[in-house]
Amino acid sequence: TTTHSVQAALLEWYALNQRRLPWRIPYDPVLAPSDTKPQSLDPQRAYEVWVSEIMLQQTQVKTVIGYYHRWMDAFPTIQALADAPLEQVYEIWAGLGYYSRARRLHEGAQHVCRALQGQLPSQPDVLLREVPGVGRYTAGAIASIAYGQPAELVDGNVIRVLTRWLAFSGDTTRASGVQWTWQAAQQLLDRSVPGHWNQALMELGATLCTPTQPRCAQCPVKPWCKAYQQMHRPTQFAQEAQ
Ligand code: ADE
Repeated sequence: TTTHSVQAALLEWYALNQRRLPWRIPYDPVLAPSDTKPQSLDPQRAYEVWVSEIMLQQTQVKTVIGYYHRWMDAFPTIQALADAPLEQVYEIWAGLGYYSRARRLHEGAQHVCRALQGQLPSQPDVLLREVPGVGRYTAGAIASIAYGQPAELVDGNVIRVLTRWLAFSGDTTRASGVQWTWQAAQQLLDRSVPGHWNQALMELGATLCTPTQPRCAQCPVKPWCKAYQQMHRPTQFAQEAQ
């Protein structure tokens, strides 16, 4: 099917072009999907994904890398974070900005340790309901990347990629437009490797399908991209001249 072809094309591109990041498990399609999928419920992996995704929400990858290492040295487990004084948490966060992110991670860790036996849940709706500070995006990221659950996610990169790919003409600054994107993300999700799929979409938005001057020539989605097709369709004038 078309969805299967475009999924295969994007995942193949991602396999070759993914950045190696300290919180990321590399995707290798030569291995069976189960070999790059989380093997079992791994709460430590969920903690790593949670920390990295919160840091990445308002900060660039290259800045996050150093902070991520320092954070994990200071708070290697969710219990260590829960036990730390908030002042120390702010100290490690210093320079990243948007300090409410650090406070919410700390509060979330304390809640998970007190009420959930130190285990981040694996289902997106449970994460959203039970963990203070975890929003819809972060719930989808933890569920899919750490736990291999078929959960979609939408951030700014995914909105840009999917609205171009499907030539959505609505307004994504409105809730209805964002809701359209969640719906599209759910329909396109590759359910065999949902975590790698979600990261592939974000990676495409970060590296090729950029806000200005997207590098369409290199894009694996180009043959299916409606925005690309519209840009390269002969103009009405050219058609009439034939
Ligand atoms: N941006 C935020 N989280 C990301 C991830 N896991 N992969 C790529 N880009 C991201």
